Amino acid sequence: MSNDETSNEDPKGFARGLTNYGDKDFSLYLRRSFAKSMGYSNETLDRPIVGIVNTASGYNNCHRGVPELVEAVKRGVLLRGGLPIEFPTISLGEVFLNPTSLMFRNLMSMDTEEMIRAQPMDAVVLIGGCDKTVPAQLMGAASANLPTIQLVVGPMMTGRYEGERLGACTDCRRFWADYRAGRVDTAQINAIEGNLATTIGTCAVMGTASTMACIAETLGMTLPGTAAIPAVHADRLRAAEATGAQALETARLGLTPSKLITEKSVENALRVLLALGGSTNGILHLTAIAGRCGVAITLNRLNELSDTTPVLVNLKPTGVGYMEDFNTAGAMGTLLRELQSLLHLDCPTVTGETLGERLQAAPGFVDRTIIRSREEPFEDVGGLVALFGNLAPDGAILKRSAADPTLFESTGRAVVFTSLEDLAERIDSDDLDVKADDVLVLQNAGPKSPSGMPEAGYIPIPKKLARAGIKDMVRISDCRMSGTAFGTIVLHVTPETTVGGPIGLVQNGDEIRLSISNKSLDLLVDDQELERRRRTTPLKPATPARGYAKLYADHVTQAGQGADFDFLMAPTKA
Ligand code: FES
Repeated sequence: MSNDETSNEDPKGFARGLTNYGDKDFSLYLRRSFAKSMGYSNETLDRPIVGIVNTASGYNNCHRGVPELVEAVKRGVLLRGGLPIEFPTISLGEVFLNPTSLMFRNLMSMDTEEMIRAQPMDAVVLIGGCDKTVPAQLMGAASANLPTIQLVVGPMMTGRYEGERLGACTDCRRFWADYRAGRVDTAQINAIEGNLATTIGTCAVMGTASTMACIAETLGMTLPGTAAIPAVHADRLRAAEATGAQALETARLGLTPSKLITEKSVENALRVLLALGGSTNGILHLTAIAGRCGVAITLNRLNELSDTTPVLVNLKPTGVGYMEDFNTAGAMGTLLRELQSLLHLDCPTVTGETLGERLQAAPGFVDRTIIRSREEPFEDVGGLVALFGNLAPDGAILKRSAADPTLFESTGRAVVFTSLEDLAERIDSDDLDVKADDVLVLQNAGPKSPSGMPEAGYIPIPKKLARAGIKDMVRISDCRMSGTAFGTIVLHVTPETTVGGPIGLVQNGDEIRLSISNKSLDLLVDDQELERRRRTTPLKPATPARGYAKLYADHVTQAGQGADFDFLMAPTKA
């Protein structure tokens, strides 16, 4: 029997997965005895168990509301006759982690997987939200393959500064660019700092956290209509109660992640990612989640879908609105209805309904300034495009919906930074030889580099150009950028510098050609010269001596495989 099949004879509740003392009856007796020390009655101990993953942490501002959500989930479980038991896992607060949160996503996924598997529970509710937590939880739950339902913490509300709406973190970057260019002074930037992130919840725009919440809903892993409810809204608590109440039913139906995360639902999620103008991190995380279920995503398929999926959502950083606007505009139900003819509607969801059945519900109010119809899209093609060429033989990603179209077909002179340290040291130097039509290249920042693929691809415009009013340039790297950032920024260049990718061979003054119409990225240097450079350019991989950093450096895969660990991915399904 495979691990996603259960029979009526399988142990339930506290009798599941007994501690091994060589005597099962003794193990159960001892477990119940110790459980009784927590005050449980015999009646309670006989109930089915719903585990609740509690990711509250003093280092995760986005999850400040998790304790209240846990209580609401518990209420829902109790209403249906189950026993709710919360347990902690690692929590990842995006801006509190060094060197970068991505490095710990796989660790959180392992923690989540193993604690679901090791502890007795019949179903699990994952409470996540901040960028890496939702993919980490889905990756871990997919590998554990117990009936699972996810609840996201929901987005922040916007703040105000001198009458202007502000939301983390697109506006963080916009004002910081203005500060660097001298358009905003120190007193103003200090005042703005206090108004960017003013409530509980995840970043207020369509950044990585919101993108992943929408992807989780599209995959069928959350209750319908819950991705965009603001963190502070009472509906968020009602969604938590309903999630707890659903968990046992999801278990009864045997709806494990492997039944929901399939080739078809992953393709639906890609469509949604493209229609949202969603985060570039979304493709990395979705690839890693799908990989845990043996579903491979290719960048060629991404391009095929992107050519036929319009951008319909008008949120920052691609457009103008915030997540609170998306929620009141009709949220995921409206978006999915607009995309209906492009989706696989027979995909099951965590309630047992198919996606198609879910969409038969009457559409409510729709705000067309935020969610457009298919007939009048914001963009005719998807928000992301994959690029190939001799600079990125295995592909690179550009968020074209957040880029400057005047730079889509351009050839420029390379200005190369060989590491993050080199970038920090020289980018603002008055001596830097750089012009507005140059191409900034950052090397040695991919998954296997010492920096672990940080969100440094949003290379700042050199100060002397920023002061002259330049707001965008073509920028290329093997690292990532925040889902809240914008610009003509080519990311995830693969293979990365550290494993010998051609991006590591670029030198100052080389010509680079970017063509969005051809989906190409080329280094205009002949093969002979590139071969000569390859022979003389030493690789500089991270070489940590011990611990998790060593595990990471030894086993992290390239961006095209989601930067998951090679030993955690499932064999690809034929
Ligand atoms: Fe947590 Fe942006 S910092 S979602």
